[in-house]
Amino acid sequence: MTTNVGIDKIGFYAPNYYVDMTDLAEARHEDPNKYLIGIGQNRQAVIPPTQDVVTMAANAADSILTPEDKEKISLVLFGTESGIDNSKSAAVYLMNLIGVNNQAKAVELKQACFGATAGIDLAKNYLMNHPDEKALVIGADVARYGIKTPGEVTQGGGAVVMLLSQNPRILVLDTHDAHLTRDIMDFWRPNYRTEALVDGKYSEQVYLDFFTDTFHRYLTKTGFKMGDFEALIFHLPFTKMGVKALRTVLPEADERQQEVLKANFDDSRVYAREVGNLYTGSLYLSLLSLLETGKLSAGDRVGLFSYGSGAEGEFYSGVLVPNYQDQLNKIQRLDELNNRTKLSVQDYETMFMDQLPTDGSDRILDLAGDHATFVLAGLKDQQRQYRKQT
Ligand code: CAA
Repeated sequence: MTTNVGIDKIGFYAPNYYVDMTDLAEARHEDPNKYLIGIGQNRQAVIPPTQDVVTMAANAADSILTPEDKEKISLVLFGTESGIDNSKSAAVYLMNLIGVNNQAKAVELKQACFGATAGIDLAKNYLMNHPDEKALVIGADVARYGIKTPGEVTQGGGAVVMLLSQNPRILVLDTHDAHLTRDIMDFWRPNYRTEALVDGKYSEQVYLDFFTDTFHRYLTKTGFKMGDFEALIFHLPFTKMGVKALRTVLPEADERQQEVLKANFDDSRVYAREVGNLYTGSLYLSLLSLLETGKLSAGDRVGLFSYGSGAEGEFYSGVLVPNYQDQLNKIQRLDELNNRTKLSVQDYETMFMDQLPTDGSDRILDLAGDHATFVLAGLKDQQRQYRKQT
C-alpha cells in the first residue's frame, strides 16, 4: 500500500510581522470572538515589501537543506498562485538564490492552493524511477483579499518547503490518491488584480463537497477504514474551515476515534492560527504543526485533504517513519512565531498598501527592518534585486 517515496525534510518561513485578530476585529467593529472562534484565527502574518514568494521559499529552504541535498536535487517544483513573473518560474530564481546544482529541472505549478500537492504527486512518480535523486517541492504565497473585505480576516502568507526522496525520514506516501476537478468560480484572481475575488460562502460549500467526495472515494479505492487514520488534516484557509470538514466525517468514527481525530486536528492548526492562510503551503503547514506540536507515533497514518479553488481537490495519505521527530524543529518554532513584531492595524494597512511599482520604474527598498537571510532589495531595470544578508 505504501510507496518507498515521501517527505524527508520540511521547512517553514513566515515574515517577521503580524497583526493581532482581536485588534483587527475591534478596528472592523466586529466581536473578537467572531475572528478568534468563528473563523479560528489568532494572528495573521503581514508580508513586508522586502519579502515575496521567492525570498520566503529561499528562507524556508535555507533552514533545512545541506550542501549534499543541493547536489542531489534534480527537480524543483514551485507551487504558487502569487508568482512574480508570468514567464520565468519562481523555481529558477529560487535555485540560484539557495545554490541548487544547475542540472536540476525547475518549474512553477499553478492551480490555486493545489499547486504544492501537484508538486508532491509529480515528485512521487519521478522519484520512483530516480532512486538516488531528490526533489524539492515548494508551496509559497501571499494571501490578499483587501482591507475591510470579508476575506481580510483570512489573509496571511509564508512558505513551506519539502525535500522528497526514496526512504524518507518523515512520512512515506501511500500509493493512491482520490482526485476531483470541476470548472467553477468560487475564488479567482484576474491578471490585473493583486487581490483575490471570492464567493466566500459558495467556496466553503464547494470545499466541503470536494472533501467528502474525495475522502469517500479514497476509502473505496484503498479499502482503508476510518479507524486506519490517526489524523485527518486539511488545507486551512482559516482554521474553522478544517473544523467544518472534520465534522462531516466524525459520525463515521467510534467515540474513541472521534476524540483522537479531534485532538490531532487541534494540533494541526496551532501554526495556521498564528500566520493565517498560506494558500499552496497551507496543508503542509498543518502537517508540520501536527508533527511538531502533536503526539503521533511511528506507523501512524495521516490523511491529507488538499483543496485549490477553481477547483481541484485531492485526498491522499502517508505513514510516519520511525524517529521522524529527529527531522523537526519542535522547540524553536513557537518561539519564532511568538517573537515576531506586532503591528498596529494602521501599520498593517500601511504595509499592506506598500506594493512595488507596476509601471516599470525603479524602487530601492529599505532593508533595515528585515533581518531574514534572503530579501528583496527592490526593482531595477524591471528586474527584482534579490540579496542574501549575512
Ligand atoms: N462568536 C463566535 N462565532 C461567531 C461570532 C461570535 N461573536 N460571530 C460570528 N461567528 C461565526 C459565524 O457564526 C460563522 O460561523 P459558521 O461559519 O460556523 O457559520 C463564522 O463566525 C463566520 O461568520 P460569517 O459567516 O458571518 O463571516 P463572513 O460573512 O464575514 O465571511 C468567510 C466568512 C466566508 C470565510 C470570509 O472570510 C471569506 O470569504 N473568506 C475567504 C474565502 C475562503 O477562505 N473560503 C474557504 C474555501 S476556498 C479555499 O479554501 C481556497 C482558499 O484558500 C481561498
